[in-house]
Amino acid sequence: MAEHVLAIDQGTTSTRAIVFDRQGQIVATAQREHEQIFPRAGWVEHDPAEIWTNTEWVLAQALERAHLSAGEIAGIGITNQRETAIVWDRRMGRPVYNAIVWQDTRTQERIDALAAQDPAGVQRFARETGLPLATYFSASKIAWILDQVPGARAAAEAGDLLLGTPDSWVIWNLTGGTDGGVHVTDVTNASRTLLMDLQRLDWSDQMLQIWNIPRAMLPEIRSSSETVGHVQLPAARGIPIAGILGDQQAAAFGQVAFEAGESKNTYGTGNFLLVNTGEQIVRSEHGLITTVAFRCDGQPARYALEGSIAVTGSLVQWLRDNLGIISRAEDVESLATTVDDNGGAYFVPAFSGLFAPYWRADARGALVGLTRYVNKAHIARAALEATAFQTRDVIDAAVGDTGQALPELRVDGGMTRNDLLMQFQADILGIPVVRPQVVETTALGAAYAAGLATGLWSGFDQLRGLWLQDRRFEPAMAGDERERRLRMWQKAVTKSLDWVD
Ligand code: G3P
Repeated sequence: MAEHVLAIDQGTTSTRAIVFDRQGQIVATAQREHEQIFPRAGWVEHDPAEIWTNTEWVLAQALERAHLSAGEIAGIGITNQRETAIVWDRRMGRPVYNAIVWQDTRTQERIDALAAQDPAGVQRFARETGLPLATYFSASKIAWILDQVPGARAAAEAGDLLLGTPDSWVIWNLTGGTDGGVHVTDVTNASRTLLMDLQRLDWSDQMLQIWNIPRAMLPEIRSSSETVGHVQLPAARGIPIAGILGDQQAAAFGQVAFEAGESKNTYGTGNFLLVNTGEQIVRSEHGLITTVAFRCDGQPARYALEGSIAVTGSLVQWLRDNLGIISRAEDVESLATTVDDNGGAYFVPAFSGLFAPYWRADARGALVGLTRYVNKAHIARAALEATAFQTRDVIDAAVGDTGQALPELRVDGGMTRNDLLMQFQADILGIPVVRPQVVETTALGAAYAAGLATGLWSGFDQLRGLWLQDRRFEPAMAGDERERRLRMWQKAVTKSLDWVD
C-alpha cells in the first residue's frame, strides 16, 4: 500500500527530492546543487543536462534513504524554478542551448522595443497574460534562443524542437525522453511564460505570433493535480507523476492558502508574495502581477496576485561572496544582532533592477545613509531589513488591489529561520508573522498536489488539518517609529530609481 509521496523541487540553485508521509512530515531528502553560469554581465544560465542528471540522482537517493521502493510511492509532484526557458531536440534529447534563467536580462533591448511600440508600454499584454513586459518571463528568452542559436529556427519550424520550463524538461525525461516522453506543463507554469491567455488557460495565438514561436514546440497545458505520465527510470519505474506547480504556487499550496484572501510569502533567492483571489482574475493597479494559483483536475482555476522581489536571500550571499563580511549565509543573523539598529544605513538591492511593485529594469543598488559610525554589522542589518521593507512594499500593493488588509502573514523558505528578520518583518508590517513547522512548503505543496490526485489525501480540509504552527511573531515597534523607518526606506528607493546613466 502506497503511504508516501515524493516531491522533486527543481530550484534555481539546486534540485531536491523529498519523501513525505501521510502526515506531511519529511521522511527523507536528497539534494544536489548545479552550476550557475554567468557568460556575461546580466546573463544567467544553467546546463539542462546537469539538471537532469541531478534529478535522476536525487530521486534514486531519496527513495534509498527512505527505504522505499517505487510501489510504495503513491505519486510524484514536480515543482520548479519558474520562467527559466529550455529548448531541446526531441529526437536527440539534447538541449540546443543552456537554460536561460529567470534572472537573465539579455533580452532587455527587445523588451524596450516592444514596449515603445504601444501607448500602454510594458503593460501592453497585461490584459491577456496578467504580466508586464519584462525580461523575467520566458517568452523573450525562447525567442532569443530561436533567433541566436544557429539552425534553431529552421529546426523549430521543421517540428524537431520542444520548449518548456524546467518542469516540462524534467517530466519529458522522467517519462522516457526520446523514447516516448510526455511533453506537458501545468497552468501555473504556463502563466509565467507571457504566452498563455489567462482566461482561456490556453496558449495565445497573438502572443505566439508576436514572439514568433511555433505552436508545435509548446507543451500541453494540464491541471496542477492529475496524473500526466509514469516514470520510466529503473529506480522509480511506474510511479505516476501526479502534480505540477511552479515553486511559488507550490509554496502557497503547501501553506494551504486555498481560498480567496489567503496568502503566503516565501523567502528564498528572492521573495514572492502570493495572495489568492479565488476564481476572480484581479488586475493589479499597484504593480503586482496576475498569475494562476493552481487548478485541480476538473475544477476551475484559482488565481493570485503576486509580488515578485528579485533580490532578498541573494543579498546575503552577496555580503558573503562579494564583500566577505560573513563566511556563511546563516552568520548574517549573529553579525546583525551585535548592533541595536541599522545605524542610519538603508540598502536597496536593485541588482537586477527592481521587480514588483516598481518594474524598473534601470534601477541600481543603493546603500545610503552612511556615516563614519556605520560598520559591517549595520550593513548586515540593513541588508536583512531590505527584505522586510521590500515585502512591505508588495503587501501595500496587494492591499491596495484587493481592498482588504492582511490579518497576518504566513511565511516560509530558508530565510524564515532567521528570528531577527521575522521579528523585524512583523514590526515593519504591523501585523503578526506566522511561521509553520515545515518551512519547506514548496516541496510540500507539490507533494500535496500529487497526493490529492492519487487519493492519498481526501481533500483540502484534510490538508488544512496537517498545517502546524512553529512560531508567531507579534509586532512590537511603535507606530511612529515604523512610519519614520518606512519614510527613510522610501527615500532610499528614490535614490535607487534615480541612478540612471
Ligand atoms: O520566479 C522565480 C522563482 O520561481 C524562483 O524561485 O526558489 O528557485 O529561487 P527559486
